[in-house]
Amino acid sequence: MSKVRDYFFIDIEHLGDKKLFPYHLFVYNPNSDSTSPFLKANTPLVKDKLDFLEFILSKGGRLAVDKRQKNTFLTTHSYKEDDIEDLQEKVHHLEEERERKIKELEKQTQILGEVKFKEELLGAIEDNDFSALIERVRLETDTFSVRVSHTVSLASYLCGILLREDNFINRIVAVSYYLAKNCDMKDEETLGDLICAAFFSHLGITQLDYKLGSKPHLEYNKAELKEYKKHPNLSHHLLTKSGVELSDRCMNIIFQHHERNDGSGYPMYKKGEHIDQLSLILGAVSHIFEYSQGKVTGTTTDLKTVIRNLKNKTFTAGLEFEFGDKIYESLTTIINTESNSDNAA
Ligand SMILES: [Fe+2]
Repeated sequence: MSKVRDYFFIDIEHLGDKKLFPYHLFVYNPNSDSTSPFLKANTPLVKDKLDFLEFILSKGGRLAVDKRQKNTFLTTHSYKEDDIEDLQEKVHHLEEERERKIKELEKQTQILGEVKFKEELLGAIEDNDFSALIERVRLETDTFSVRVSHTVSLASYLCGILLREDNFINRIVAVSYYLAKNCDMKDEETLGDLICAAFFSHLGITQLDYKLGSKPHLEYNKAELKEYKKHPNLSHHLLTKSGVELSDRCMNIIFQHHERNDGSGYPMYKKGEHIDQLSLILGAVSHIFEYSQGKVTGTTTDLKTVIRNLKNKTFTAGLEFEFGDKIYESLTTIINTESNSDNAA
């Protein structure tokens, strides 16, 4: 007797009018969860045998064919795999779960409307509350396909467990995500690379002197600045050593997130088209939030002022502008939706 996994089930009707088959027939006994030979290939299915088979089936038994004879069975009866229920490809439970989440998101979108990034971002800045934007990213990434890449699946997983509060890193993830979409980079692979890079880009800072974390960047002496500039490389190195499976593009975004369009960045002093646009997006968003929180100057600046100074290219100590025309324009267009009174402020 064999275990059932080596066989596929058929219905007696699948045999048609034929009485002779070029493949063996088996019967499955659910009580013992095993399969036994019933009729050898090329042996006629005589009436007695047919009666016995019908008796077995009436008691809950099942007719089965060895999977190694699948093609012989299909050819004999001119069937396709789709015609036999047991041969149809089963939908993975993660795919089923994804379908459910897509429907949930559609429902949410009907209630809340499509995400209007500019308005939502301005609202979040105004209220200093990014929780709605973060929540929308979590719902969207929850519907990412489970079959694109490991990085996409990891991005979806990280968002599912981490995007549940309004904090510094979640703001960077959410705003980077929508800024990329605003720049017409909307496919799951691209967004997955960006999300994982946003979560992991500062992993290397954990390896630096603790004091650097609490000191404004503008107050670093030469040696401290040199030390701080190692963090993109350290993040890349730690991730490589950890064995976490991340795409080459994601690793590249992490490595390049401090490169700037005019070559003033680090660690490789790359320029323009030699820098991945996603690195510039992550760099711009990280810089805006870091600047606002006082990590650059030691003084907090409200986000509106930071972005307005960026838009007007107002020289402000430590404020960077070199994120490339496309991203710069995308950022400043958002600010252009501010009311006149805000602009005059
Ligand atoms: Fe950084």
